[in-house]
Amino acid sequence: MIDKQSPIPIYHQLEEQIKAKIENGEYKPGDALPSEREYAEQLNISRMTVRQAITNLVNERYLHRIKGKGTFITEQKLEQNLNGLTSFTEDMRARGMEPSNKLINFEIIPAKQSLADQLHIAEHAPVYEIKRIRLAEGIPMALERTYIPANLIKGLTDHIVQSSLYQYIENELGLKIGKASQLFEATLANEEEIEYLEIADQSPVLFMKRTTQLENGIPFEVVKSSYRADRYKFMLDLER
Ligand code: GLP
Repeated sequence: MIDKQSPIPIYHQLEEQIKAKIENGEYKPGDALPSEREYAEQLNISRMTVRQAITNLVNERYLHRIKGKGTFITEQKLEQNLNGLTSFTEDMRARGMEPSNKLINFEIIPAKQSLADQLHIAEHAPVYEIKRIRLAEGIPMALERTYIPANLIKGLTDHIVQSSLYQYIENELGLKIGKASQLFEATLANEEEIEYLEIADQSPVLFMKRTTQLENGIPFEVVKSSYRADRYKFMLDLER
């Protein structure tokens, strides 16, 4: 397993082997890593070398140490590409994961002035307020609060929003979704997020606010999403 003649340092070879086992699922999130001694004996290398490999993987967040217990495999975050205007359902399906929703709230409310301004509607005009927990493979990933003008996106039901909103808008209503602007902010989870996302007190979440318009420039949603920071990382291609 370890090539001592290789110009690649032994600690680095071990790091790559551990990473490969995490990536191919042989080592699962939450599993304890074999001890330094086990690696050292099995591979006939020094414990110092094993320690160096493990420390590097802890720094890279593949592993984490729990005081008095040992070293464990860390849950890998989903990498979310921010280059396209996609829906949660599409994002999860593209990864081969099964999306689902838990509907917390679905009602029509009169728009407050600031929301009305963002949606280009009159103050007090009716908007759907939809609060959903978005899950992947049954695990809560994000809490989403969506505001949609009821006179623009017609016929929404609690049943529809328990699957894909974008799919309904495009396939059932035949409207074209155009573009969005999205704001990102790091915050600590509030009480509601702690409860619905099943995370510990003081957990960080990534808060996003998206305003999306139809192809004709009319805004159709304002969405406030809180994504679990322990499950997500974001990727963007930048050009100069
Ligand atoms: C993502 C976006 C939301 C958007 C939603 C639509 O979660 N952050 O702004 O409303 O996708 O998802 P779906 O079509 O799965 O309901």
